[in-house]
Amino acid sequence: MKSIVCGKGGCGKSTISTLLAKEMAKRGYKVLVIDTDESNFDLHSQLGIDPPQDFMNYFGGKKVLFEKVKTLRGEWRIDDLPQGYLSEKGNIKLMAMGKIYDFGEGCACPINALSAKFLENLVLEEGEFLIADTDAGIEHLGRGVERGCDIILAVVEPSQESVKLTRKIARMAEDIGKSVYYILNKVDGETKGVLLDLLDKSKVVGAITKDERIFKSSLKGEELDFEVEGIRELADFLERLFIRA
Ligand SMILES: Nc1ncnc2c1ncn2[C@@H]1O[C@H](COP(=O)(O)OP(=O)(O)OP(=O)(O)O)[C@@H](O)[C@H]1O
Ligand SMILES: [Mg+2]
Repeated sequence: MKSIVCGKGGCGKSTISTLLAKEMAKRGYKVLVIDTDESNFDLHSQLGIDPPQDFMNYFGGKKVLFEKVKTLRGEWRIDDLPQGYLSEKGNIKLMAMGKIYDFGEGCACPINALSAKFLENLVLEEGEFLIADTDAGIEHLGRGVERGCDIILAVVEPSQESVKLTRKIARMAEDIGKSVYYILNKVDGETKGVLLDLLDKSKVVGAITKDERIFKSSLKGEELDFEVEGIRELADFLERLFIRA
């Protein structure tokens, strides 16, 4: 199953991608995490994995990426991916599509184009699970990155902006015929209740507690190596979906 994690800036996309990847790996799935965020650099630390080389460099770098991506055809499989561009630890593999490094170097469109094409062309074998962590907001939806995924996981934090963006994501997902599910993040009993009143409850498949350990580990750039309330239930849901698929 190919899942893509999206939501407002700072709502917890990378945190949830990491915790979910670790939980699915623990359950025996071969997990591929794709970092499609061109700005942030620290997903690998949260996973406790060395940073991989940017996949865009495999195609000659960002300047020529747009043209190269147009010519990419055929299926990709995890086992056939070029080794230098994958970092791994246990059952988790990490790829990073590309980053912006220099002032004035241009937009992230070629990186989004590569992410979109990669998600579309990747074929998963049984027991493989893909999590694509995205950049903040909905630019990637505007660029069609979600086309190749099976499900969209929208992370919602307790803020009105996040709720509004989530509704917009749900509408866009509907337009392209993709299933969208909501994961509430940074909640306690009260804020969870408020979010459930504001959102379509039937789409909520996870609620992750606000946890000081996550905040402190991220601050120090440390691996998220502990159990967090709500992740197991989320993984249970995805496993059931997996079996039905
Ligand atoms: N459940 C949680 N409890 C406490 N802090 C959290 C939780 N989830 C995320 N955070 C904190 O919120 C901040 C943003 O988290 P994260 O980087 O995962 O968000 P993001 O959506 O990936 O951000 P960006 O849009 O910049 O990619 C970090 O400081 C992280 O530690
Ligand atoms: Mg992030």
